[in-house]
Order: sequence, then C-alpha cells, then structure tokens
Amino acid sequence: MKRGKLITFEGCDGCGKSTQLRLLSEYLTKNAVPHIFTREPGGGKISEAIREILLNGKNAEMTDECEALLYAAARVQHLHDRVEPALRDGKLVICDRYVDSSLAYQAYARGLGKDFVTKINSFALEHYLPDVTVFIDLTPEMAFARKRGADENDRLEQAGMEFHRKVYAGYKALAESEPNRFVCVDGNQTPQEIFQNVLRVLRERNCL
Ligand SMILES: Nc1ncnc2c1ncn2[C@@H]1O[C@H](COP(=O)(O)OP(=O)(O)OP(=O)(O)O)[C@@H](O)[C@H]1O
Ligand SMILES: [Mg+2]
Repeated sequence: MKRGKLITFEGCDGCGKSTQLRLLSEYLTKNAVPHIFTREPGGGKISEAIREILLNGKNAEMTDECEALLYAAARVQHLHDRVEPALRDGKLVICDRYVDSSLAYQAYARGLGKDFVTKINSFALEHYLPDVTVFIDLTPEMAFARKRGADENDRLEQAGMEFHRKVYAGYKALAESEPNRFVCVDGNQTPQEIFQNVLRVLRERNCL
C-alpha cells in the first residue's frame, strides 16, 4: 500500500484554519478520499495527560523551555498514536497546527530561538516533515478584528498584539525559508475563495 501524505495547516490565531478544515472535511468525505483530521495533542491518554499539564492554570510558573519540551513530547506521542498508523494505511493525514506552530510561537515569538526548538523537535522534523504545509496568510490585526469585532480589537493590550505580530513574522520567515514545503494562501478572501485556492494547491502538490 502506498504511504499516505501529511498535510498541515498553519497561521495566526483566528486566521481561518478551522473553517478551511471543515470545508476540506466535507470535500474529502464527499469524494471518498481516505483521510483523518487531527490536532495536537490528539487523543490518547499520554497526550491528554500532557495537555492537562500545559493548560492547568496552577502551572503558571512553567518556564518557556519546559512548555516547548512538553509540546514536543506530546507531538512525538501523537505521531506514534494517530499519524503513523493512518499514513501506513495510505490515508491523507490533515493536522490543524504542527511543528511550525512551535517554531512560530516558541522559537520566534517567545524568543527561544530556532536552534533550540528545531533540536527538541528533531524527531518530527526528520521523520515526519509535512508533505505540504498550508499557511493561511492573514495579519493578526485582521484576524482579531474578525474574531472579536473591531471594538474589542482597539482595546487589545499592545503587548498581546506585539506577540501575535511576532508570530506572524515568524510564519512569514518560515514560509520563505522552505518554499517547497510551504504554500501560502491569501487569507483575506471569503471562505469559499480561500478553499478553492486550498484545493488548487493540494492538487498541484499531488495530494488529491
Ligand atoms: N474567510 C473568512 N472571512 C471572514 N470570516 C472568516 C473567514 N474564515 C473564518 N472566518 C471567521 O473568523 C473566525 C476565526 O476562524 P477560525 O476559527 O476558522 O480560525 P482558526 O484559524 O481556526 O482560529 P484558532 O487559531 O483560534 O483555532 C470565525 O468566527 C470564522 O467564522
Ligand atoms: Mg481553529
């Protein structure tokens, strides 16, 4: 059996990833394309336990490095539990955020540096590099305006917005450094327009 392909969706908070994944899900189901949708930490008791540590408000003193290592650990388990079995079955594996989120958020925005984050994610990067990474290109300002309304956007503390600007700049740098893997889709269009572009790039990359 031919091995499946790994497709990841990336972009700033609220750029439209889930909306596109929903449209893609409908399309793949309708066209009987064997696939799974997943996200980290995806199911499984170990990933869930790590998630609980990461999201627990009582762990506020967690260092940025510890957080990055836990995400990397959960990623390895998710690859083992969900991704590898589906790829082996020849399925298309579509993941809502993956290793590039660690690079954009932790390496670039939190400032841990690309070397450190690359190193702790070497298992994922060496063995499970995505075949295609769809970057939905939408600035954090536009994403926030959409999600919470322009009013709320004005009241957003500057520190928060600065962080998200760094995330966005990180994604742009990643996409530029790996043009063969990344495809950038303009996020400032209607969901249907964006989806047509997503389908086009996935066909061009022989994923559909
Ligand atoms: N192309 C679009 N045009 C206008 N609004 C959109 C578009 N795509 C998504 N939205 C709206 O923007 C909001 C955020 O979209 P969505 O949840 O898909 O983003 P996301 O990238 O999955 O966010 P998160 O990072 O929080 O998971 C939702 O309210 C959604 O309905
Ligand atoms: Mg989402």
